Amino acid sequence: MNPDFADFLANSQQRVQQALPALLDNTGSEYADADASSSLQRLSEASIYSLLNGGKRVRASLVYATAQALGHENKAGLDEIASAIEMIHAYSLVHDDLPAMDDDDLRRGKPTCHIAYDEATAILVGDALQARAFEILATLEGVDAETKLALIQQLSAAAGPRGMVGGQAIDLAAVNQQLDLSALKTMHQLKTGALIRVSIAMSALFCGADEQQIALLDRYGKAIGLSFQVQDDIIDIESNTETLGKTQGADQALNKPTFPSLLGMTEAKQLAQDLHAEALQALSGFDERAAPLRDLSHYIIARQH
Ligand code: IPE
Ligand code: IPE
Ligand code: MG
Ligand code: MG
Ligand code: MG
Repeated sequence: MNPDFADFLANSQQRVQQALPALLDNTGSEYADADASSSLQRLSEASIYSLLNGGKRVRASLVYATAQALGHENKAGLDEIASAIEMIHAYSLVHDDLPAMDDDDLRRGKPTCHIAYDEATAILVGDALQARAFEILATLEGVDAETKLALIQQLSAAAGPRGMVGGQAIDLAAVNQQLDLSALKTMHQLKTGALIRVSIAMSALFCGADEQQIALLDRYGKAIGLSFQVQDDIIDIESNTETLGKTQGADQALNKPTFPSLLGMTEAKQLAQDLHAEALQALSGFDERAAPLRDLSHYIIARQH
């Protein structure tokens, strides 16, 4: 990893990690005894456990990298947008690991939320993180109502049935099935691509990108959104549990259709490379301020966790 990109990634991770605790705060109910309730405290604790401990923060980094490409990396509000997206992402992981879904017991190197707490708490953690993400966007300070509405619209579409949740539904129905390449791409684009793509789109909108920049950045986002899940499928086979921080071989154990299972490993890796090339091509008109975006595309297909 080149040193500039290592710095960029560390700074982005630190930036969102610092913003998240205050934004997650569940206290402040109009009912004084709610804040003291041990059930609510348990929910808070489980939310903190799932959101704050680890995570590469790729989606937050994409928010900052897009802003940097557009010359707005210090714009107020970016931390809140990055945090809202990371909350939706963390919720999707907590639910993805539930026994009714992938039934995984390891996430980010630790017991999954439903193992560390219990299933009902894990369901509520997801629900709470999702609701809080939208509340954060709705209450962004110093941002006009039209922009806030557009951000909420984009994130809700990417998270919902035409995005992540829709992809998860296809994923669960696809167990023991052989999808064709087009159906597999669609599933990945929805379950993982949509949230990655929208991280770039929301940042571009917020930073006032023009129509042409938005279209090019979206082309980049679409390519890396898919390459992210292609690599996720590859490392499920090739990495190890300790490096991954999640159980190696989980896809094979559940007989999920994946890129390596459909195309073979060599072709799956080639596809990841092709998508990286496509992402770089989309950025060819951007100057050196887009370096973190370029490096992120490479990071996504080179990562082992
Ligand atoms: C894992 O996402 C789930 C997928 C969408 C493939 P990440 O690999 O970004 O997970 P964290 O946030 O770094 O733990
Ligand atoms: C996850 O896909 C997609 C989500 C929306 C969370 P996976 O099921 O492959 O993610 P991991 O491998 O458990 O992180
Ligand atoms: Mg899954
Ligand atoms: Mg899973
Ligand atoms: Mg996976």
